[in-house]
Amino acid sequence: MSENWSTVDEYICDTLLERDEVLEEVLRLSEAEGLPRINVAPNQGKFLHLLARMRGAKNILEIGTLAGYSTIWLARALPVEGRVVTIEFENHHADVAERNIAAAGLASCVDVRRGTGTEVLSAMIEQAEGPFDFIFIDADKSSYPRYLELALQLSQPGTVIVGDNVVRRGELPNVENGDSVVLGVRTFIQMLGAHEKIDATAVQTVGSKGHDGFALGIVTE
Ligand code: DHB
Ligand code: MG
Repeated sequence: MSENWSTVDEYICDTLLERDEVLEEVLRLSEAEGLPRINVAPNQGKFLHLLARMRGAKNILEIGTLAGYSTIWLARALPVEGRVVTIEFENHHADVAERNIAAAGLASCVDVRRGTGTEVLSAMIEQAEGPFDFIFIDADKSSYPRYLELALQLSQPGTVIVGDNVVRRGELPNVENGDSVVLGVRTFIQMLGAHEKIDATAVQTVGSKGHDGFALGIVTE
């Protein structure tokens, strides 16, 4: 079954995505440097890119840079003078990401901030940074609820918030599962549902990364 999911992903990528040597090199360096292979799939990266373009996002915030693969997809959606701020906890990941972002010719519009999501976001709120038009949450899943609270303080009406990996092989609704990752994404989804100023949905995905899904919301008036 999962092999078929990957075959379909390959077909989609071959048919709808252009060959991209920069992004291929990003994945090669990521692997050579021993980073976990948990980057978004190419068709998911393009999905994020298209969403950001549809939103007309000029200021994008990403929580969880890893090797900068999704960062580059998002930065390529920016208009002239647009910016991405991306947050990474692991110094080695941030080093690799900075190399990849520079190789993609995007160093001038992407700012890699080092530290925990909570530290960096809190400092950004204190400095009155933002608001951002588009926020992609893709870091440690147990902290998603905290990241959502902080992200909302860097938002304005119309801000799009996307959370990656919220389905976890179908464990999302399994209340018997007390794993911190599953608890984190379940609380995140519940917060999106309960919040008065967010309209949200979530969509399951299958593909080269198995069975997972993303949440998508917009901040309302
Ligand atoms: C994991 C994290 C991710 O961001 C992802 O897209 C897939 C898996 C993980 O930690 O297992
Ligand atoms: Mg992810």
